[in-house]
Amino acid sequence: MTETERPGAAAWVPTDAAGIDPLREAARACHGCELWEPATQVVFSAGPPGAAMVLVGEQPGDQEDRRGAPFVGPAGTLLVEAVRAAGIDPTTVYRTNAVKHFRFEQRGTRRLHKTPETVHITACHPWLHAELQVLTPRIVVALGATAGRALFGRPVRIGAERGRVLQGALPDSAALSLLTAHPSAVLRMRGDPGYDDAYAALVTDLKTAAAAAVAT
Ligand code: URA
Ligand code: SF4
Repeated sequence: MTETERPGAAAWVPTDAAGIDPLREAARACHGCELWEPATQVVFSAGPPGAAMVLVGEQPGDQEDRRGAPFVGPAGTLLVEAVRAAGIDPTTVYRTNAVKHFRFEQRGTRRLHKTPETVHITACHPWLHAELQVLTPRIVVALGATAGRALFGRPVRIGAERGRVLQGALPDSAALSLLTAHPSAVLRMRGDPGYDDAYAALVTDLKTAAAAAVAT
């Protein structure tokens, strides 16, 4: 897809959306980039629109693509566990992704995750922006580098920047924000000596975010 053929999501985002449901409905038709075509369906978001905490992931994975809901695969299971371990009821959290279609490479019968590129983050950004206009969270947590780039509009380094409560998720949102690791990155370490520390660091960051949400 060339740049003119990848117009970005803006043309599909309703300008007068009064809530998340109209956005979710409209996103089903999005052809803002080429990722819609091989994917099964758009995976928009889950969770209550009144949530104090919003978690932003990278993109739906294989299982999310099949089931149409975010964070229902292995990384999602780990995330829900970490959210609970941080003392947060996962059902009270709004979950979404920086990119709303699954990007993958077909290898025989397997679909291998492919990290979205900056062009996909940019193309899909109008959806995240519209969500954050409708939602009124106290804090938006970016899970990993893709979410961080989408939220802060610049490349981020997880190791150097994680765990700090920052002002302003997106320039025009009043919500606080925090960057942490992606649960897939933690999951990949399972069996390694560093796994326990990586998991604990994710839980600590989520606790920091929850405390900030209450304090503001
Ligand atoms: N990883 C993500 O970033 N998002 C999902 O929805 C699932 C896995
Ligand atoms: Fe639209 Fe985003 Fe899907 Fe691209 S990834 S088609 S911009 S919803």
